[in-house]
Amino acid sequence: MRVVISAVCAIVLFSYAAAYDPLDPNGNITIKWDVVSWTPDGYVAVVTMSNFQMFRHIMNPGWTLGWTWAKKEVIWSMVGAQTTEQGDCSKFKGNVPHCCKKTPTVVDLLPGVPYNQQFSNCCKGGVVAAWGQDPSSAVSSFQVSIGLAGTSNKTVKLPKNFTLLGPGPGYTCGPAKVVPSTVFLTPDKRRKTQALMTWNVTCTYSQFLARKNPGCCVSLSSFYNETITPCPTCACGCQNRRNCVKSDSKRINMVGIHTPKKDNEPLLQCTHHMCPIRVHWHVKLNYKDYWRVKVAVTNFNYRMNYSLWTLAVQHPNLNNVTQVFSFDYKPLLPYESIS
Ligand SMILES: *[C@@H]1O[C@H](CO)[C@@H](O)[C@H](O)[C@H]1NC(C)=O
Ligand SMILES: *[C@@H]1O[C@H](CO)[C@@H](O)[C@H](O)[C@H]1NC(C)=O
Ligand SMILES: *[C@@H]1O[C@H](CO)[C@@H](O)[C@H](O)[C@H]1NC(C)=O
Ligand SMILES: *[C@@H]1O[C@H](CO)[C@@H](O)[C@H](O)[C@H]1NC(C)=O
Ligand SMILES: *[C@@H]1O[C@H](CO)[C@@H](O)[C@H](O)[C@H]1NC(C)=O
Ligand SMILES: *[C@@H]1O[C@H](CO)[C@@H](O)[C@H](O)[C@H]1NC(C)=O
Ligand SMILES: *[C@@H]1O[C@H](CO)[C@@H](O)[C@H](O)[C@H]1NC(C)=O
Repeated sequence: MRVVISAVCAIVLFSYAAAYDPLDPNGNITIKWDVVSWTPDGYVAVVTMSNFQMFRHIMNPGWTLGWTWAKKEVIWSMVGAQTTEQGDCSKFKGNVPHCCKKTPTVVDLLPGVPYNQQFSNCCKGGVVAAWGQDPSSAVSSFQVSIGLAGTSNKTVKLPKNFTLLGPGPGYTCGPAKVVPSTVFLTPDKRRKTQALMTWNVTCTYSQFLARKNPGCCVSLSSFYNETITPCPTCACGCQNRRNCVKSDSKRINMVGIHTPKKDNEPLLQCTHHMCPIRVHWHVKLNYKDYWRVKVAVTNFNYRMNYSLWTLAVQHPNLNNVTQVFSFDYKPLLPYESIS
């Protein structure tokens, strides 16, 4: 029986210190720009963000995308998203651009905006599911109309230095690369159209960049012993200890419960482990033929609801999970030795 417990070697809820995620080595977020028309002073592009990660979604308060223009481009208008700042458009008379900043910062619109401001896959407050969770909601897109830019595939300059908060730090984006133009199928599937030019930007996640400490801890118990092995003290670092909130505190209602911050800064309930999430692993049965555990996930972060969550578990003996109750389960088999 001991074997099962000591075999629980790592439970991961977004916690790995590597440049990529060993549980999802091919995971990335790809941002595709399709130029759909050239205009007298620039172009109109459809920007599509696809979250190709197996289990890491972009949760509330959503993504923030930034880049640096290569020339003196301006954004005349956007549909399905907006920049957070307009910047200095004082040299424009009459028609004023949506954004004149050299480094625009774009966010998704909130659900329920008027129909004429919507675009396909937009307006979800920047929340994007993981591919392994729901491919149909793993995409976010918007349309942008750019001026003072190149007006052909020979003169256009690709934006540089892409940044993605998903939310909070963690993603590193590579340079934009021209790729074969996207082919679109019309809704009736009887005609194909093609982007005039397409470039892709790929962003990958690194736990090391996201935070110094783990984001969750694991406590253990079993049917044959009353002792609960708790999460280690300061399992997630203790730097938040001065700002934590006692569970009976009146401050909870004052500090904005369930209002996440863009930088992902948590507001924790005071615990000895100081983790936003505790995963409890209780061994209920342990037979020769099979074993069964009950997993309980507890949220100690007052800023988050954690709807749409995923829990990734690495265990040497999960290669034949036969039944999962109350949750959807998907095996991740990045390598033969890891499941
Ligand atoms: C991004 O992820 C997709 C799906 O896993 C994969 O096909 C593609 O090669 C990845 N792109 C890069 C640049 O790693
Ligand atoms: C560009 O990104 C799209 C996802 O939006 C992907 O399907 C396509 O394979 C990517 N192209 C290349 C060459 O990476
Ligand atoms: C640019 O456009 C011309 C036609 O206008 C086309 O022949 C050429 O292949 C395009 N180049 C790229 C890199 O898309
Ligand atoms: C890229 O963007 C980051 C953040 O906006 C900025 O600190 C950095 O200086 C930029 N680098 C270049 C080469 O523009
Ligand atoms: C229960 O677990 C604790 C802590 O591992 C151990 O000290 C104790 O001996 C165990 N009791 C029994 C009855 O196995
Ligand atoms: C979180 O859940 C509470 C209660 O269900 C709800 O009132 C609140 O709007 C939710 N907040 C977010 C950010 O989803
Ligand atoms: C997985 O478990 C099922 C039911 O217990 C069994 O029939 C099957 O042979 C097992 N597969 C492997 C690869 O062990």
